[in-house]
Amino acid sequence: LELHECLAKRRDTRHFLSEPVPKTVLDKAFKSAHQAPSVGLCEPWRFVLITSQEKRIALHQGYLKTRAEAALQISDPELQKLFVSLKLEALLEAPVVIGLFCERPPDSRFTIGIQGSIDTVEWSCVCAIQNLWLSISAQGYAAGWVSIIDFKLISETLKVPQTWEPLGLLCVGKPATNYGGIPMLEKENWKKRTPNPVVIEV
Ligand SMILES: Cc1cc2nc3c(=O)[nH]c(=O)nc-3n(C[C@H](O)[C@H](O)[C@H](O)COP(=O)(O)O)c2cc1C
Repeated sequence: LELHECLAKRRDTRHFLSEPVPKTVLDKAFKSAHQAPSVGLCEPWRFVLITSQEKRIALHQGYLKTRAEAALQISDPELQKLFVSLKLEALLEAPVVIGLFCERPPDSRFTIGIQGSIDTVEWSCVCAIQNLWLSISAQGYAAGWVSIIDFKLISETLKVPQTWEPLGLLCVGKPATNYGGIPMLEKENWKKRTPNPVVIEV
């Protein structure tokens, strides 16, 4: 896909077909992720390919618990009903689930660019995740970011090094739908996308 077509067509996907994702597709996507910009060239992104069904089940349980807690924060009963009806993950059925992590560069080595905000390290990871997502989409597959989960549970379940900070989970596979070409949350009448970004001149 041409870049701008890919940007327009990329969807956060929660409905997948069961066909497997070839290793060549994932390798290419990880390579694209690694081509992302990073503050001071610190390359802080870390990924975990989750192959264990047991771990997926544990993460899915965690999602259900956090979703139930989140539902209690919605006071409008109609809105609460709509929220609970939305499918907001595919942790059990997606052919591939990837753990997303950030490892900060060690204090012992000066990092160029983190002086304005230490968050630049995490933002670098998000640049890599977006590259991963776009590469997956450009290759005819789709991805969905899952963040409705206690992030501590992600670290505990995947047993990553303590220095790896969780950023969520990415479900990957062949999309079963493109939601009519609009965000699923828009299709399901949760929220409308605005037509333009806020850009001001000073
Ligand atoms: C950091 C981040 C976390 C997200 N977490 C979730 C999530 O937990 N569950 C979900 O269904 N969608 C999640 N999304 C997807 C957004 O809901 C989605 O991107 C938005 O509705 C726009 O739809 P689109 O990506 O199809 O354009 C997340 C997106 C981002 C960028």
